[in-house]
Amino acid sequence: MEKASALWSSWLVVTMILTIFLATNAQATNYPTHPNLTEDFYLRTCPQARIIVFNVLVRQLALNKNLPAQLIRLFFHDCFVRGCDSSILIESTPGNVAELDGFPNRNSVKGLDVIALAKEKLEESCPGIVSCADIIALAARDILQLSRGLYFPVPLGRRDGSVSLASEANANLPSPFANYTQLVTSFANQGLSEEDLVVLSGAHTIGVSHCGVVYRRLWNFSPTIQTDPALSPAYAAKLKALCPIDQPQSQTEIELDSSMGGNFFDSNYYDNVLNGEAAFISDSALITNPSAAALVRTLGRFPTVPFFEKFGVAMVKMGLINVKTGSDGVIRKVCSKI
Ligand code: HEM
Ligand SMILES: *[C@@H]1O[C@H](CO)[C@@H](O)[C@H](O)[C@H]1NC(C)=O
Ligand SMILES: *[C@@H]1O[C@H](CO)[C@@H](O)[C@H](O)[C@H]1NC(C)=O
Repeated sequence: MEKASALWSSWLVVTMILTIFLATNAQATNYPTHPNLTEDFYLRTCPQARIIVFNVLVRQLALNKNLPAQLIRLFFHDCFVRGCDSSILIESTPGNVAELDGFPNRNSVKGLDVIALAKEKLEESCPGIVSCADIIALAARDILQLSRGLYFPVPLGRRDGSVSLASEANANLPSPFANYTQLVTSFANQGLSEEDLVVLSGAHTIGVSHCGVVYRRLWNFSPTIQTDPALSPAYAAKLKALCPIDQPQSQTEIELDSSMGGNFFDSNYYDNVLNGEAAFISDSALITNPSAAALVRTLGRFPTVPFFEKFGVAMVKMGLINVKTGSDGVIRKVCSKI
């Protein structure tokens, strides 16, 4: 017990020093800002907020190696629907079908239990202070830093929303069957650029999907073409073996980055896209546009540079979408309930 906690403290110290080092080093990067959000927003009201969240993440990461993927996707799905206001966490009620039960989220968005755990601990130390929306944003960055050494700042001060509608998740979250034009429109609706689209799609270098999402690409691409020609023959064969023709609804998991065994956070996704080894039609669509394809090639060239820096900038930008601040919104007590 003593030993474990000593080990824990020294790990924490090392991580904090690393954070300061990386933060100092990262000053050359120009991150987007918001007038009402600051990194030290909770300095007076809940100075231990960051440590509390971090502590929960360390423990949960040990139990679930796919947690980084789940928390990054949770952040994306929160921000694209009514802004980063934690509306993704609200459960459906008899009178309301919430975002969580929307098509892109149902049975596939995960990590909510970890946010709930962090919120419980925060409520013990600083009741009613830290928003669920800020916990999602902090968790997405911290889990990447913890597992991959990727740093970017997280401006804080978001407040929580009280509206969550499945129909808005269906309308605003991009489809894995989307073409380039549709993806650009979906990102532009959030104030995000074509570069942001390409850079943020790089998150598909970790995590999993399910056969149901890729089935059409493998077996029923169009009335005349069985298999999407954008897939390499070898990758198509591999997916077909996992997702057989007679099981269109199969929930078998497939790794998004099949070439590297999944959980490295690196630019390998872009090589996969170029090699016909990316899972979704929306991934392959990135090289159907010449300037997006050029960026895919640039990002794929080296594993972390310039991918990490660009990814950090785009994550900060995504984290500022339609945030509620000041007296807008609320601080929910329990993240899943209004
Ligand atoms: C560009 C449009 C995008 C589309 C169409 C898309 C679609 C999808 C789909 C269908 C899945 C698999 C869900 C499942 O089968 O359970 C998935 C997984 C994932 N997506 Fe995206 N996504 C997009 C952009 C993004 C962005 C911007 C991020 C974050 C910055 C992201 C992060 C992830 C992660 C990390 C996973 C793996 C989740 C896990 O392992 O639990 N995606 N995405
Ligand atoms: C993209 O999809 C939309 C909707 O299906 C379609 O109208 C459009 O022509 C497609 N664009 C391209 C470039 O294929
Ligand atoms: C910042 O907060 C002030 C005061 O609450 C508010 O009037 C203003 O609209 C906010 N700015 C943004 C960009 O949200």
